[in-house]
Amino acid sequence: MPGYFNAKEGRRKGTKNKLPVQFSGHHTAVVLLLTTVAKQPLSYILKKNLGLSKMKRMAKEASFRKRGGTRFKQDFHHPVLKEGLRGHTGPTDISDHLSTLFFFTIDAKPKLIVELGTRGGESTRALLAAAAVADATMLSVDIEDCTGLDLPHRDRWNFMKADDVAFAKKGFAKWCADKGLKPQVDVLFIDTSHFYEHTKQELAAWSPLLSPNGIMLFHDTNMRRGMTARMDQSISIGIDNDRGVIRALEEFLGKRYDENRFFTDIANGFLVMHYAHCNGMTLVKKI
Ligand SMILES: C[S@@+](CC[C@H](N)C(=O)[O-])C[C@H]1O[C@@H](n2cnc3c(N)ncnc32)[C@H](O)[C@@H]1O
Repeated sequence: MPGYFNAKEGRRKGTKNKLPVQFSGHHTAVVLLLTTVAKQPLSYILKKNLGLSKMKRMAKEASFRKRGGTRFKQDFHHPVLKEGLRGHTGPTDISDHLSTLFFFTIDAKPKLIVELGTRGGESTRALLAAAAVADATMLSVDIEDCTGLDLPHRDRWNFMKADDVAFAKKGFAKWCADKGLKPQVDVLFIDTSHFYEHTKQELAAWSPLLSPNGIMLFHDTNMRRGMTARMDQSISIGIDNDRGVIRALEEFLGKRYDENRFFTDIANGFLVMHYAHCNGMTLVKKI
């Protein structure tokens, strides 16, 4: 036994050949908490020479963690969003960002919302709910045919099966003219290949089409070498895009970022906000 506990001083004395560990009732309870809840081995507690207050703090922190204090879940309150997402709220690689999409889209007071990358339409549902609240038109572009999706507020939804870069260069202006809209995007959500070269091309083709106060929202700016980590602490296997989206954005903004951290910035005439969790979501708003 490496030492014994002096209850009065709250310290373990160094002790060759001393009596075995002795605790007061209070210490015993705290040590029990530490070894069971915090899973700290008794040998560690003794070796670290922990005082009673430190042991109490560790036990409190461990019990807070055990009760789920560091895990965050989400609710959808607005009836239009709630209805729009019904049955489609994850956990997925984008589920933590649906409220963010809804909030910043409405905040942009959009006339035209463009989504690049639709697949199963999870982001589409949040953006369409925002379009309904903001009385906006929405256009989704995907290289695959997504017209079969069962979406709420379909009357506001337009789908274009096309390569997004090619469509920005040829087709978008005519599509807007046919709809009686200015060829300007108020909210541009990008969630396509996640690759560096393609994201660079998307930025070059679509950023000039952004309206004067427009906002771009990029998903997958933190794919963490292939693991999705959500705010409820659940995880799932994803892909490693070799920092493709965030690298292209860094070049566009002329900055280097640590995408594992939450941050805001002002760069290259844009207000930037980055959420690091759930594959990362970066908001880039013209100012
Ligand atoms: C990650 S999924 C989109 C997920 C969707 N935003 C959601 O929340 O459910 C990516 C989509 O981008 C599309 N895509 C990939 N490359 C594209 C390109 N060059 N042009 C248009 N769409 C593309 C894929 O077909 C796929 O449906």
